Amino acid sequence: METAKQPTKVPHHLAIIMDGNGRWARSRGLPRLAGHQAGTENIRRIWEACVEHGIKILTLYAFSTENWGRPNAEVRGIMRILEQTIDRELPELHQNGVQLRHIGRLEGIAEGLRRKVREAIELTRHNDRIILSVAFNYGGRAEIVYAVRRIVETGVDPEQLDEALFSQYLYTAGLPDPDLIIRTAGELRVSNFLIWQSAYAEYYATPTYWPDFDEEELHKALLEYSRRERRFGLLSGD
Ligand code: FPP
Repeated sequence: METAKQPTKVPHHLAIIMDGNGRWARSRGLPRLAGHQAGTENIRRIWEACVEHGIKILTLYAFSTENWGRPNAEVRGIMRILEQTIDRELPELHQNGVQLRHIGRLEGIAEGLRRKVREAIELTRHNDRIILSVAFNYGGRAEIVYAVRRIVETGVDPEQLDEALFSQYLYTAGLPDPDLIIRTAGELRVSNFLIWQSAYAEYYATPTYWPDFDEEELHKALLEYSRRERRFGLLSGD
């Protein structure tokens, strides 16, 4: 049986595009926000499974800069879910050694929620069991433009600028690039997610909607990743 096999290697940094909450809800005759609620509840079982597999960094794409264009009620609902999740889950996340990070811009988010995000990051900053990095109000192109802006503002010598230094100006500064990016709900798109950092990432797509993406689905993705040969532009066997 496939699930009895164990992956021979696991990604150090796993990133997930959590798609399909809306379709999951529609398929059950529920409002879209019920899908986001179910999707949020799913995060716990996935970070716990990641810890069990020895994955050290989990990045989740929760809200893109483009998502502001959704109906107001849905945007407000997602903000409320994020706030309630911090209130409810933070003590347990902290107790379990989860270090929370945020990538994206806090500008544009209500002050109360911004403060909670900052406090959660501060409280958990020394935890080291797993890093849970949440991409919220995140866009990959905006991230690169923001990095360039700061490089220009700080007067970096063009001769000194290389890929490693450039990476230090991204939201992900200090984190290694993702090894594997999973996208749920069947689309085969990058959707402006970690476009600089994913240069050599493996991609895995599944038709399963995010709220249904469970430990077994993760296991399947990790088995597939184990079978991939990552070459980083070199020849096979190098
Ligand atoms: C994708 O499904 C999901 C989103 C755009 C929002 C995800 C938000 C959360 C899970 C809640 C807040 C986050 C945290 C970290 C607590 P979709 O709406 O695009 O689904 P569809 O493509 O089927 O419509």
